[in-house]
Amino acid sequence: MSTTWFITGTSSGLGRHLTELLLERGHRVAATLRDPTRLADLAAQHGDRLWVRELDVTDTAQLREVVGAAFADLGRIDVVVSNAGFGLVGMAEAFTDEQIDLQLRTNVTAAIHLARAVTPHLRAQGGGRLLQLSSQGGHMAFPGYSLYHASKWAVEGFFEALAGELEPFGIATTLVEPGVARTDFASKSDVVPHPPAYDGTPAVQFLRADADRSATDVAGDPRKMAEAILAIGELDQPPRRQLLGSDAYDNVIRALSERLEAARAQRDLALTTDADDYTGAHA
Ligand SMILES: NC(=O)c1ccc[n+]([C@@H]2O[C@H](COP(=O)([O-])OP(=O)(O)OC[C@H]3O[C@@H](n4cnc5c(N)ncnc54)[C@H](OP(=O)(O)O)[C@@H]3O)[C@@H](O)[C@H]2O)c1
Repeated sequence: MSTTWFITGTSSGLGRHLTELLLERGHRVAATLRDPTRLADLAAQHGDRLWVRELDVTDTAQLREVVGAAFADLGRIDVVVSNAGFGLVGMAEAFTDEQIDLQLRTNVTAAIHLARAVTPHLRAQGGGRLLQLSSQGGHMAFPGYSLYHASKWAVEGFFEALAGELEPFGIATTLVEPGVARTDFASKSDVVPHPPAYDGTPAVQFLRADADRSATDVAGDPRKMAEAILAIGELDQPPRRQLLGSDAYDNVIRALSERLEAARAQRDLALTTDADDYTGAHA
């Protein structure tokens, strides 16, 4: 069955692969991106099945306008994919206020506004799917990526709550959590030089090893990831979260196991702070 998808950040990487794959399979795509000329080749091949609009997701007025136009022009949109994002890399103290603001506006605030903008349309049409690109880095954290992790942990929290709000309307949400993938992500990241005081620290060593890794040390095949995202969007009951890549699977299992063990170890002290007349009824 042919379905209609709305995707942000379709110029490269996962967004571009997903757009290509959907069009190859006969689906319809509302593709948004900062530079629409980047999709000229697909527009020439696929005609009416590709609807393209310029969208910088940090421009909230433009985002609302483009979402409204997509639903008005296409009628039903079955799956919305909030994919646009980038990485800010370096030591937290070295970032400028503007760099921090842009990271959070792009990866968090825009994702929140997109979800809010599409919700009334999805409700009105009786349901839909909302896929948010998070990351393995929404569960754990590498030094040197503090603001990127802050952004992905933030979308995880937002969608965790949103899922419970939207399920009664037949709107299913999935946090897609890839490991490292062979996209333009690293080359488009904003890498900030570390202050000399950090020379030789584990964080700098980690970033150096990260930068030195060879292509075959990166697990994620973006075309295969796009295949998986397409499959999730077609499920009757999609999962609230889906890891992609063996690195994501291993790192997240390790991180969650360690946190569970650490949380259990806190039981005795945690229970000492309850009020004497606490009932536990609303926990
Ligand atoms: N690659 C990985 O290792 C990895 C791992 C986990 C999660 N992810 C997540 O996967 C998503 C896609 O990343 P990718 O790996 O496919 O990287 P990518 O090739 O760099 O693609 C990122 C896309 O986001 C777009 N974008 C960035 N800022 C934007 C803005 N303000 N408005 C509109 N579009 C904007 C870029 O457009 P421009 O061409 O205009 O810059 C590009 O189309 C991101 O959310 C990323 O955090 C990636």
